Amino acid sequence: MAIKDKVVIITGASSGIGEATAKLLATKGAKLVLGARREKRLQKLTDEIMKDGGTAVFQVTDVTKAEDNHSLVELAKAEFGKVDVIFLNAGLMPNAPLSKLKTDEWDRMIDVNMKGVLNGIGAVLPEFIKQKSGHVIALSSVAGIKVYPGAAVYGATKWAVRALIEALRMESAQEGTNIRTATLYPAAINTELLQTISDETTAKGFGELYQAYGISPDRIANIVAFAIEQPEDTNISEFTVGPTAQPW
Ligand SMILES: NC(=O)c1ccc[n+]([C@@H]2O[C@H](COP(=O)([O-])OP(=O)(O)OC[C@H]3O[C@@H](n4cnc5c(N)ncnc54)[C@H](OP(=O)(O)O)[C@@H]3O)[C@@H](O)[C@H]2O)c1
Repeated sequence: MAIKDKVVIITGASSGIGEATAKLLATKGAKLVLGARREKRLQKLTDEIMKDGGTAVFQVTDVTKAEDNHSLVELAKAEFGKVDVIFLNAGLMPNAPLSKLKTDEWDRMIDVNMKGVLNGIGAVLPEFIKQKSGHVIALSSVAGIKVYPGAAVYGATKWAVRALIEALRMESAQEGTNIRTATLYPAAINTELLQTISDETTAKGFGELYQAYGISPDRIANIVAFAIEQPEDTNISEFTVGPTAQPW
């Protein structure tokens, strides 16, 4: 399916994977609707895309608020008449051992990484059902297919994303709504994600790992574009993507 003129919502577009994907899809002619909390970053990205001949609008969005997700969909409809793809990318990773009892961070990860994805699905699904088409692409993580110490809650939220998106794929096929899905499982990608880690020992460990192996968020943007570009009758459900040199 050609990306040109597809209306694509991206959550967490203000940095990292979301930003890289917005830039790539803009060059391919997508009409972008960008959401995140940092307004200045969204404004700058939108200006850059427009200056380079692309099409983008933005709205300050907190994915933990159901109404913000709905108004992102409304913005897409008002500006471009429809939504073709939603890229549920917003997330954070304040990893730490459970024994550190960082319970506020547990809540935050559940709210953003899991409930944020559900809120996005809830906002876009009525449109996709009405249209009998649409594509939900979501960010899980290698932590959503492997368990590792220090990532208990983060991993749990990413396993949840995996379950939600796969069930959505199956239900949509059963219901004949023609909705495609893809779940991405990246390993070390160099973004601002590690800045969300407050536990010093964990931050140091991940910092060293990413410094040694991390690759550019452009690599994930390429996968998002590839998933969208498949023919309408073809669904690639899962992509595990990471640095060739990363040993785990
Ligand atoms: N980098 C990796 O190695 C890696 C690996 C596997 C999976 N992932 C996943 O990839 C996704 C993107 O992360 P990234 O690596 O690109 O990190 P990043 O640079 O920190 O980007 C995270 C994005 O999420 C947004 N965000 C956070 N809380 C939000 C909220 N409540 N509402 C709306 N937006 C929110 C941030 O924007 P604002 O702060 O402006 O709201 C930011 O744009 C995440 O789901 C992450 O778990 C990353």
